[in-house]
Amino acid sequence: PPVEAFDLVIFGGTGDLAVRKLLPGLFHRYTDGQIRPGSRIIGVARDALGESEYRERVRAAVEKGAGDEAKNGDAVATFLELVDYVALDARKDAGWAQFAQKLALTPERVCVFYLATSPEIFVEICERLREHGLNTGQVRVVVEKPIGRDLASAAAINDAVGRSFGEHQTFRIDHYLGKETVQNLIALRFGNALFEPLWNAEHIDNVQITVAESIGVEIRGAFYDGAGALRDMVQNHLLQLLCMVAMEPPASLAPDAIRDEKLKVLRALKPIDESNAAQLSVRGQYRAGASNGGAVPGYLEEIGKRESRTETFVALKAEVRNWRWAGVPFYLRTGKRMPERVSEIVITFRAIPHSIFTEQAGPIFANKLVIRLQPDEGVKLMVMNKYPGPGGLRLREVALDMSFAETFGVRYPEAYERLLMDVVRGNPTLFMRRDEVEAAWAWADPILKAWEGMQDGPKPYTAGTWGPSAAVALIERDGRNWHEDG
Ligand code: BG6
Repeated sequence: PPVEAFDLVIFGGTGDLAVRKLLPGLFHRYTDGQIRPGSRIIGVARDALGESEYRERVRAAVEKGAGDEAKNGDAVATFLELVDYVALDARKDAGWAQFAQKLALTPERVCVFYLATSPEIFVEICERLREHGLNTGQVRVVVEKPIGRDLASAAAINDAVGRSFGEHQTFRIDHYLGKETVQNLIALRFGNALFEPLWNAEHIDNVQITVAESIGVEIRGAFYDGAGALRDMVQNHLLQLLCMVAMEPPASLAPDAIRDEKLKVLRALKPIDESNAAQLSVRGQYRAGASNGGAVPGYLEEIGKRESRTETFVALKAEVRNWRWAGVPFYLRTGKRMPERVSEIVITFRAIPHSIFTEQAGPIFANKLVIRLQPDEGVKLMVMNKYPGPGGLRLREVALDMSFAETFGVRYPEAYERLLMDVVRGNPTLFMRRDEVEAAWAWADPILKAWEGMQDGPKPYTAGTWGPSAAVALIERDGRNWHEDG
C-alpha cells in the first residue's frame, strides 16, 4: 500500500550507492504505486549541480539500474518530477539554513535523511541537522555501514548520532537483511514444524555460510584497503546471517523480539583472539589470475600499492556457546575474486546412526539443507534415495529442489527497496540496533588485533579460486569439506 507523501534526503546523492542502488530502488517502489505524488527525493552533495542536471543523472541511474520498468518513459518522467537537488558541504555552514527552509519540516510529515556519504562525515551531518532543528518530529536517519572500524569508533559514531537522534529514529542498514532470501530464513525456520526439532547440536553437524563475490575491489580500493573483508563483510553481513540461522525462536515478529534474539547469539560467540586465531581463522589476498573469462590484476595492482596487509578473503570457524549449539562449528567464508558470485547457507545434519545397507549401496551422505541466497535463489534439501532398477538397493543423493524464480515467477525486489520503505513506515525490524552493532564489533576486535600481532600477513590466492589452501585445511582438519554444488 502507498504511504503518505514523505521526504527522502540522500546525502551522497551523486555517489555510488545512490546511483546504483537507492535511486533505481526508489523508482521500482514508485512504479509499484508505493510512493505518492507530492513526495520529494532530494539529492544532496557538494557538486554544484542544478536541479535539471541532477535529474538527468537520476534518469541515467534509473535507466541503467531499473531494468525493463525503466523503459516506460512516462513513468521515468513523472518519477523525475519528485527529484530535487541541493548542493551542500557538511563541513561548512553555508547553505544549511536555506536547506532547512526548503525542507520546511512539519510535525506530521515523514522526513528521512539517508547518510550515503563516506562515514567520516556522518557525525558532522548529524550535528548540522540538529543545529538547524532538523531532528524532531517524524524525522528518521539512515546510517550506512561501515559504522566504525572497531568497537571504540563504532561507539563514538553511535554516541554522536545519538546526540541528534533517538534510537527509535536511527536506522542502521545492513542490506543483507533486506534480501528476500534472508527474510525467507524466518519463514523457513518459523513457518514450518519440520525443521525446528532438528535445529540443534544433537542433529546438526555443522553450518557453513559462504558469501563469495567474483568482482575485485573495483573503484573502492582506497576505502577497502583501510577495511578488509572482516570489517567489510563478516562483522555485519555474515554475522547477521549467522544470527538468523542460530537465534532462538522469537515470541513474535516485533522488531525487538527478533533483535533481542540476534543479540544473544552475538554475545554467545566464542572469542577468537591471539590464543586461537591461528587455528580458527585464515586470511587471504588475491593475486593476478583469471575471472569471468578474462585475465584480472591482483589486489595490489588494483589498489596501486607495493604492499598491503589487507585481507580480501576470510575463512573462520565460529562457535555459538549455548545449549542449542554447543560444539557445532559455524564455518564462515567470504572473499573477492572467487570463481563465482554465490551466497549460500548450508546446514549439514548428522549422519545416520546405523546403516542397514551393504557396501554395494554406495556411500550414504548426511542430509543437507542448502539455502541459496543469491543468485538462483532457492532452497534444496539433499536426501538419499534408491536408484531405480533391479540391481539391488543402490543409494543416490538427490535434491528436493525449489527454485524461487520457477515457483513464484515474480521479480525479486532489491534489498534496498524494501529497507527504504521500512524506514519511511518506521519499522526497524530489519535494521541493526546499537547494541547489536557493538556486540558484533566486540567479537571482531580481538580477531583484528590477533592478526595485527602476527608476523605474516594474508596468504596469497590466485584470482578466480576459492581462496588460499589454508582455508581448505581449516575445515579438513575437522574431517569436513566446504560444500560444493554438484
Ligand atoms: C557491501 C560491501 O556491503 O556488500 C561490498 O561493502 C560488497 O564490498 C557488497 O561487494 C556485496 O553485496 P551484494 O548485495 O552484492 O551481495
